[in-house]
Amino acid sequence: MRILLIIGGGIAAYKASELVRLIRRDGGHVTCVLTEAGSRFVTPLTLAALSENPVHTTLWDLKNEVEMGHIQLSRQADLVVVCPATADLMARMAAGMADDLAATLLLATDKPVLAVPAMNVRMWQHAATIANVATLRARGVTVMEPDEGAMACGEFGPGRLPEPEAILAAIHAQFAPRRLAGRHVLVTAGPTHEPIDPVRYIANRSSGRQGFALAEAAAAAGARVTLVAGPVALPTPPGVARIDVETAREMAAAVAAALPCDVAIMVAAVADWRVADAVGQKRKKDGTGQIAPLELVENPDILAGLGASAAKPGLLIGFAAETENVIAHAQAKLARKGADWIIANDVSGDVMGGADNAVHIVTAAGVESLPRMAKAQVAHALIAKVADALA
Ligand code: C5P
Repeated sequence: MRILLIIGGGIAAYKASELVRLIRRDGGHVTCVLTEAGSRFVTPLTLAALSENPVHTTLWDLKNEVEMGHIQLSRQADLVVVCPATADLMARMAAGMADDLAATLLLATDKPVLAVPAMNVRMWQHAATIANVATLRARGVTVMEPDEGAMACGEFGPGRLPEPEAILAAIHAQFAPRRLAGRHVLVTAGPTHEPIDPVRYIANRSSGRQGFALAEAAAAAGARVTLVAGPVALPTPPGVARIDVETAREMAAAVAAALPCDVAIMVAAVADWRVADAVGQKRKKDGTGQIAPLELVENPDILAGLGASAAKPGLLIGFAAETENVIAHAQAKLARKGADWIIANDVSGDVMGGADNAVHIVTAAGVESLPRMAKAQVAHALIAKVADALA
């Protein structure tokens, strides 16, 4: 893999040298371009030594311009990576400016572009940056989500450069075969909220992380992805069309509207029950010490509905969160819901809301257990199996 690495001017620029080292160790080829501001944070000498390549900093290099160096640089690359993608550099990209070598390359290139943002949290959350990121994504640039945490400027929030290992994984994803190209994958994720009255609701501990990771992995594999999400505070994965819903009935309607699909992966922890008589006014204590009981009615089962419908997708996958007899329950669910696969996970520990998951793939043919790993890795493993099944 041949990477053209454009380094913007932010404190995170020093981490770009670590990224260069990782790409080289991985057998990749890197050519670095530094903006004027970038060269204030990391020197051309450091990058030249690590990349074992000349570093480019100016549009006005006469020798290179005779050879149309700025066009040549992008022609020689398979992928352009902008890291750190500062607010200023992304604004110039979005505006189509060509006022330095970095911006000119980005305007002239016909290669895929991966931007890795890093900036102060207020700059990341500014309406101008939000609009610029949306513009770049609409044009096909993959913009990673920044990490959240303590920042060099002393503030806390989203805006940190992702770890170099995560950036390398995103680079690999750009080279991954698009095995789900032309397929429509529908994913449900997160909990549902079932109102009791205008201020209270019934909910569960689902974080939405496994479903969002699956949507992201399916999009990275080239699928068109529709993600129907219950109330969660997670960023939308790049390239995914997201529909936010609150209740099970809204989720069922959004799923029906998104059909047809080739693959449906129902990860959402849908509330089994809703309050029959959710009232329009807040319930009050009446001083008698008695509580009016909540009458519950069953919600529609979205997965079972799809399993029994004429619009049943080619591959219908459900999840089973269980605290005991995990596989036996999953096997029963496979038949009851008309699903092709049930992904069983034991949620008796810290799985719900946590970062890791250990799953068993239960099908009519048998059970395959995957080791415990990060939810993103579980997602990549499952999407690879989905691609195998469709092939
Ligand atoms: O029956 P149980 O809730 O354990 O089944 C879990 C599976 O069924 C998950 O895939 C979940 O998304 C789906 N489900 C659904 N609609 C419901 C309840 C569960 O789609 N009302």
